[in-house]
Amino acid sequence: MRTVYVNGEYLPEHEATVSIFDRGFLMADGVYEVTSVLDGKLIDFDGHAVRLSRSLNELEMRNPISKDDLLEVHRELVRRNEIDEGLVYLQVTRGSDGDRDFAFPAEETEPTIVLFTQNKPGLADSPAARKGAKVISIEDIRWGRRDIKTVQLLYPSMGKMMAKKAGCDDAWMVEDGMVTEGTSNNAYIVKGGKIITRHLGNEILHGITRAAVLRFAREAQMAVEERSFTIAEAQEADEAFTTSASAFVMPVVEIDGVALGDGTPGPVATRLREIYLDEMRKAAQ
Ligand code: PDD
Repeated sequence: MRTVYVNGEYLPEHEATVSIFDRGFLMADGVYEVTSVLDGKLIDFDGHAVRLSRSLNELEMRNPISKDDLLEVHRELVRRNEIDEGLVYLQVTRGSDGDRDFAFPAEETEPTIVLFTQNKPGLADSPAARKGAKVISIEDIRWGRRDIKTVQLLYPSMGKMMAKKAGCDDAWMVEDGMVTEGTSNNAYIVKGGKIITRHLGNEILHGITRAAVLRFAREAQMAVEERSFTIAEAQEADEAFTTSASAFVMPVVEIDGVALGDGTPGPVATRLREIYLDEMRKAAQ
């Protein structure tokens, strides 16, 4: 049984509770982060802590915990749950003032903070990454502030289910004809050795893995272009991949039924996955 963290306490998972009036529950008024764990250490904790602060600031939500304390809670949960490979999920909501109201509660209302671990043996040496993912495209009908990592994940969940029903692994979302991102990852194509991924803006989440992967790509003298692309361009690309804290670099081998290259993970995605895992293991805390 897991030990989880709720509002300052470490508890067995079935003893941890949050109010039914919590705005995270009633209004999706909350933000989250997912940090991966390799060799029992946190991957890019700093990046996730910085983005958490940004998400909270954008929503005028109080940060209930210092960065140092947050690191300690992450480490303590990894220790107590004996996680070698897995994820730490963190959620902060605007809390509850004991009723339902569209207006934000009084400023002194305590935010709710919850963390739990997910044990995922084989996260790094993943069979799914060796095979590559098949994706479908769907219309992106999410709200306009996707740069804020909110817990409003209904449409991404529906997208994942649409992909499953189509016999695929994931969905890439398309707005005004251009790919925004995957349901829970950033999207890339590779053409003539060049890595192409959408530019940052309010339309996509500013992936922590994206930032690291683009840095490693540039350091390895690979060409990177940050611009949007269409599904048609992606289907003609040499390869494609996604990045996220939960799957690192994941090759994409098929888009809307069209196989990319020979339908197996491409060399650029495979190499970037290796570099990312090597470098991030070294820097893990
Ligand atoms: N998802 N885009 C979206 C919509 C995401 O939900 C995520 C992450 C990313 C990649 O961001 P990062 O590299 O910082 O993980 C991009 C997490 C993993 C999740 O919801 O489980």
